[in-house]
Amino acid sequence: MVSAMLNGAENLSLIRGITPNGLGFMGSDLHGKQFLKMGLVSSTRISKSCTRTIVPKCSFSASRPASQPRFIQHKKEAFWFYRFLSIVYDHVINPGHWTEDMRDEALEPADLSNRNMIVVDVGGGTGFTTLGIVKHVDAKNVTILDQSPHQLAKAKQKEPLKDCKIIEGDAEDLPFRTDYADRYVSAGSIEYWPDPQRGIKEAYRVLKLGGKACLIGPVYPTFWLSRFFADVWMLFPKEEEYIEWFQKAGFKDVQLKRIGPKWYRGVRRHGLIMGCSVTGLKPASGDSPLQLGPKEEDVTKPVNPWSFFVRFILGVMAATYFVLVPIYMWLKDQIVPKGQPI
Ligand SMILES: C[S@@+](CC[C@H](N)C(=O)[O-])C[C@H]1O[C@@H](n2cnc3c(N)ncnc32)[C@H](O)[C@@H]1O
Repeated sequence: MVSAMLNGAENLSLIRGITPNGLGFMGSDLHGKQFLKMGLVSSTRISKSCTRTIVPKCSFSASRPASQPRFIQHKKEAFWFYRFLSIVYDHVINPGHWTEDMRDEALEPADLSNRNMIVVDVGGGTGFTTLGIVKHVDAKNVTILDQSPHQLAKAKQKEPLKDCKIIEGDAEDLPFRTDYADRYVSAGSIEYWPDPQRGIKEAYRVLKLGGKACLIGPVYPTFWLSRFFADVWMLFPKEEEYIEWFQKAGFKDVQLKRIGPKWYRGVRRHGLIMGCSVTGLKPASGDSPLQLGPKEEDVTKPVNPWSFFVRFILGVMAATYFVLVPIYMWLKDQIVPKGQPI
């Protein structure tokens, strides 16, 4: 039964299309064995008329605006979600979705090439991604920012992070001056931001000229049941949405690299909690050219405790589905002979 339910779509398959913005994915064949690296070539290098883009199938699902937040895609709900999740985050949650090898792969495009770089890790939580950053950059140059004091308390306990600056703050309103950092990293946090475009605009603002943003996040599932639970829980952006947000914020040389646990064998139909790593370069100093109105969510506004509670419980139930999916995929990987699609 579970197998039939989860077995919806095919292994990762890519279809061709032409995008209006003239972007091209430089694809390679995948056949479910490994994850794809996709470089996005800017329209200045490829003429619009001949651009061929490989677009993931999820592009053709029903529209689901990022600006209509899902149950946990709110700062207050995310705060309470991590109040409890932080207890088991490193030991129970991460091993299923966000492994050390995935993290290192995802950070590779961030090009952490100098130990003296100033790096901000936004939505840094328990410091799992920061542990990957401090392999390349001196901890004293790294700031971990998160809105959850409970997550940050775990980061504070980690010996390799003892020299990092650890601060509470909001990804959509960063407490750093304009042109501050060499690298902006954010892993697995965008899915909780009520206004992801604003967070990416902030990434642009705080970077120095020539600085690089590396944003790691989930991707939207293609299988109907996974899509349903994804939409109840939080934001699973489409790959094209990540690219669009980066470009609108003003980033140049935007690249997207797919990532995922080894035991998924390239299958992406359930969406991945950590599904891609998107990078972009800041081409000019100063603020982003993008103008935005007031914030989507006013956290100071009182909320109805009942509706908050119901939203929270429904969101947590949907999240539980995504704890089961990697276990299911792991079992499948153990059972199905290597070389065969799962
Ligand atoms: C899935 S965890 C990722 C933690 C860490 N980056 C990692 O790689 O393990 C998501 C984190 O984003 C934080 N977060 C959610 N919304 C945020 C916001 N608006 N501003 C700052 N942090 C936020 C949560 O508190 C949580 O710690």
